[in-house]
Amino acid sequence: MPPTRFRTLVIVAGAALITLFVLSSSTRQVASHAASAVKPANFPTFDLEVPTRFTWHHSAHKPPEQKNSTSGEASWYADWRWLNPFSSSVTLDEDRALLPPLAERPFVYTYCDTTVKRDEETKKVDSEIIQTWRRAWWAKGFRPVVLTQAEAMANPLYRELGPKGMQKTLEYDFARWLAWSHMGTGLLADIFCVPMATYDDPLLSHLRRNDFEQLTRFEGLGNGLFAGNKAQVESAVKNALNDARLSTFKSITEAVQSSQFRVEQPTSFAYYDSESLTRRYSAVADEILLDPIKGRRELNKLIVSHLHTVWQNTFSTGIEVLKPLPAHTTALVEPSLHLAQLLVECPETLLPSSCPPNKPKCTPCVGSRMPITQPEAFRNVSTLYTIATVPHPYTMITLNNQSSEITIAHIRRKTPRDSWIHSVTRDVLGDGRGGPSRVVAFKDAVASTFGQQRSLWFTVEHFPSNIAIDITSDKVPTNDVQSAPIDTRTPFPENWLQEMAWHFGFAIPRSTISHGESMSPVPLPGDQRWQKGQQGIPADKKGSYDPPDPTENQQRVEAQLLKKARDTINSKDKRLRQMRDVAEKWNLADLEAWRFVRAFHARKVVERELFEEEESRFDGTGGARGGRWW
Ligand SMILES: *[C@@H]1O[C@H](CO)[C@@H](O)[C@H](O)[C@H]1NC(C)=O
Ligand SMILES: *[C@@H]1O[C@H](CO)[C@@H](O)[C@H](O)[C@H]1NC(C)=O
Ligand SMILES: *[C@@H]1O[C@H](CO)[C@@H](O)[C@H](O)[C@H]1NC(C)=O
Repeated sequence: MPPTRFRTLVIVAGAALITLFVLSSSTRQVASHAASAVKPANFPTFDLEVPTRFTWHHSAHKPPEQKNSTSGEASWYADWRWLNPFSSSVTLDEDRALLPPLAERPFVYTYCDTTVKRDEETKKVDSEIIQTWRRAWWAKGFRPVVLTQAEAMANPLYRELGPKGMQKTLEYDFARWLAWSHMGTGLLADIFCVPMATYDDPLLSHLRRNDFEQLTRFEGLGNGLFAGNKAQVESAVKNALNDARLSTFKSITEAVQSSQFRVEQPTSFAYYDSESLTRRYSAVADEILLDPIKGRRELNKLIVSHLHTVWQNTFSTGIEVLKPLPAHTTALVEPSLHLAQLLVECPETLLPSSCPPNKPKCTPCVGSRMPITQPEAFRNVSTLYTIATVPHPYTMITLNNQSSEITIAHIRRKTPRDSWIHSVTRDVLGDGRGGPSRVVAFKDAVASTFGQQRSLWFTVEHFPSNIAIDITSDKVPTNDVQSAPIDTRTPFPENWLQEMAWHFGFAIPRSTISHGESMSPVPLPGDQRWQKGQQGIPADKKGSYDPPDPTENQQRVEAQLLKKARDTINSKDKRLRQMRDVAEKWNLADLEAWRFVRAFHARKVVERELFEEEESRFDGTGGARGGRWW
């Protein structure tokens, strides 16, 4: 064959091959994108969507590291393909977990006038109220930002306020709106207006889309809440300022033409204005008249208790603290159980049996407590809250062995693979599935929008180190029945409880000792009797087999093993690393679950820390300074 013909043939053959490749990979893309329906399957691009089987791990480039995507040992990469069973097939990095993209948080603003002189006590109460407001909105997927007159003054229209001779209340309203319009699209909420509904409430979901056709106000909420985009707010303020009747108006809802507003039902919001306070919560209203500082503190407690009550009502079936492989995991699940016990507590308030203004038919905590159960498998029930501790494979092996003196041969010959995730997903997947599909179901339970709101997963490392580990005192275990029981429930450190408050949207009660005690005794750790038959949940239900209560000595051994395992996982020692690696390779699905949860939790903390860092740069005078002014 003449050389030119030969070259043509090679080119034609090459083109044919490439076309085949493009076609096959584009079919795959269409399939995967149809599932997520997130972005259109555009023309295939080789560098983005190389299917795993075409990947040469050693020569392929890792995806570029995303901003702020590490924390301690954990690192992650956010991508729409997060439901891939094994992260490393996308991240090309053993340690980097693949997480769902972080949801955008639309802004919600509130306005605080910091020019008014306030004494220290008042400032303290105010900052507590602001904190409650921020957490409540944050937990519902918004980005709560506190505005001050600094933002109002940054608006060029601010200078026009003075000469208009309007009433003081209206001027204040205008300052709020000018600050809002300076910032832009989002919600403007009163400090006493909080979302009081579930995360997936339709109105909240709608507002989270941050796409407003028209300026919106809410029936009956008055000044409590508005929504709109920047242009809508700007034009509303401009028009209102030019109104000749300005000096006759009392509030901005009168000043802005009603035709500019679209009116929505405020079903998902609770607004504690003075009118609803006097009408519904007169004990608190009276307290405010008597002693404003004390009264405002009580109001804050009331709001927190309502947020907590709504959460408790959402999960009417109760809390399940997962305890897969229950024989030796009492110490492992202890912190989760402790958190569950705090969550079923009734928050302290003057009006313990009151309901939020928007949900007058709630079930107050004092009348009915949420049951806590400890099943082995995760159940996908929308009215059930799940809390679970995910062990590293090595930790699980040592706990099962009841000693850290394990050998590689023992791991390979005697331990079943991926026993933890197998047990956890048994209820949703049955017994016949392999590790990869279990990992997918697990990730869905942890991190899908549905799952995130109904469960909380930790690795042992996420718990503050003194929890559950602290009972490793040097005390020789004794058989003396008289010896005082060890208190395994070391109180959670304050900063950790704060972290949880951001997650749940309300302050977590600090102890399990409070009113309502007489109705249902607080269970002791490992007190299985309490969990049995609680409020109609049959104890013999599939997956909630009760092992014999571990003895105190057993628990001590478990706690010591946990501590040792934690050290091993982070150890640099060559022999220990090797043992850990063998445990990991033997349990790839368990390991993936553990890494996923570690990264998912770490990212949540980083997201919040970045937000607080950002917020702390602004204070009441618009200048930068180190501390948080609240
Ligand atoms: C986030 O990233 C920025 C810039 O990359 C860095 O300055 C900052 O320290 C990071 N913050 C955290 C909490 O990692
Ligand atoms: C624990 O491991 C050792 C050696 O690795 C083995 O001989 C022993 O049988 C194991 N014990 C249990 C309870 O599995
Ligand atoms: C749980 O149920 C929800 C809604 O029915 C579903 O979207 C989700 O995929 C389920 N999760 C698991 C792990 O089965």
